[in-house]
Amino acid sequence: MYNSKITGLGYYVPENVVTNNDLSKVMDTSDEWIQERTGIKERRHVSTEEDTTTSMGVTAAKIAIERAGIDKDDIDFIVFATLSPDYYFPGPGVLVQRDLGIKTVGALDVRNQCSGFVYGISVADQYIKSGMYKNVLVIGSEVHSRGLDMTTRGRGVSVIFGDGAGAAVLSREEDNSKGVLSTHLHSEGQHAEELSLIAPGMGKRWVTDIIEDNDPNDESYFPYMNGQFVFKNAVVRFSEVIMEGLQKNGLKPTDINMLVPHQANLRISQFVQKKFGLSGEQVYNNIMKYGNTTAASIPIALTEAWEAGKVKEDDVVVLAAFGSGFTWGSVIIKW
Ligand code: UT7
Repeated sequence: MYNSKITGLGYYVPENVVTNNDLSKVMDTSDEWIQERTGIKERRHVSTEEDTTTSMGVTAAKIAIERAGIDKDDIDFIVFATLSPDYYFPGPGVLVQRDLGIKTVGALDVRNQCSGFVYGISVADQYIKSGMYKNVLVIGSEVHSRGLDMTTRGRGVSVIFGDGAGAAVLSREEDNSKGVLSTHLHSEGQHAEELSLIAPGMGKRWVTDIIEDNDPNDESYFPYMNGQFVFKNAVVRFSEVIMEGLQKNGLKPTDINMLVPHQANLRISQFVQKKFGLSGEQVYNNIMKYGNTTAASIPIALTEAWEAGKVKEDDVVVLAAFGSGFTWGSVIIKW
């Protein structure tokens, strides 16, 4: 029996910085409202056609592979988490295989929105623990900005989300006391529509009708979020799933060296920090700079924390996410 270990991390964000004041020029919002409710100061939006969910994921992956000290041909499997794929199908996993020039290994697309990276880590961990694969590449990447309603109608959602990508290489670890100790996944489909993008799903509509309607007021093409309901569920589920992971490993909240929560809202992270009695040094937040980058938020934050020397050998590192589905999960790591 092996463990899996994160051996390489990388991230990429587009150059184009969009401040709260920039947004207030195109919709009825303000820097004060956004900062007070979310903690966000600015986010990145793609501004060139070259930046896509796949291309940003590829850039992040190259950095992660190099830092893992392996060759791209050592990658045995690709997991790609996103809610904003370049194409409706095929998913970006195969595009990464192509664009990185990796041999014909398997490529899996994960559709778990804000929990996508945590689900991806869990998949990679299980493949490595079973002995099937040695090195698995996990990517989370999003281009939200091309799909947001940038008018006052969409302000409750549009000010929150940003673009970016992060990646991790998970490799076989023979010392079972190190690496990913456990992962914990949950879902509650009862609330599927509370944070959703209904179109262009094939649920009830024919694509020919959609084309014929060509209705610019069709809101189903924009993401919908019942903000307060999502917020209330998020704080409960984040807390539960972190505690579940700690208990599974006989750990206490005070044993956490670094908690990297999905960057949904700074107020949610602060609530969780307070609930577990953690200091500011024990929780990594960067939503102020990037907004909520969904599947990319944890790998971007984890990479930044690692680069800053805030994640060290033998540290207990906890990843936790909650989002659309609802889906949520946690990962407990001994670094
Ligand atoms: O990553 C996936 C998980 N996502 C989350 O966990 C997000 C959870 N939810 C939230 O973070 C918060 O609910 C939001 C930040 C989305 C919204 O904050 P809120 O405090 O729940 O605001 P609200 O939706 O209750 O709206 C309050 C008021 C409304 O006006 P009225 O009806 O009181 O007149 C909104 O129309 O704020 C208005 N509003 C805005 N005003 C200025 C909504 N969006 C904006 C905006 N700028 N961008």
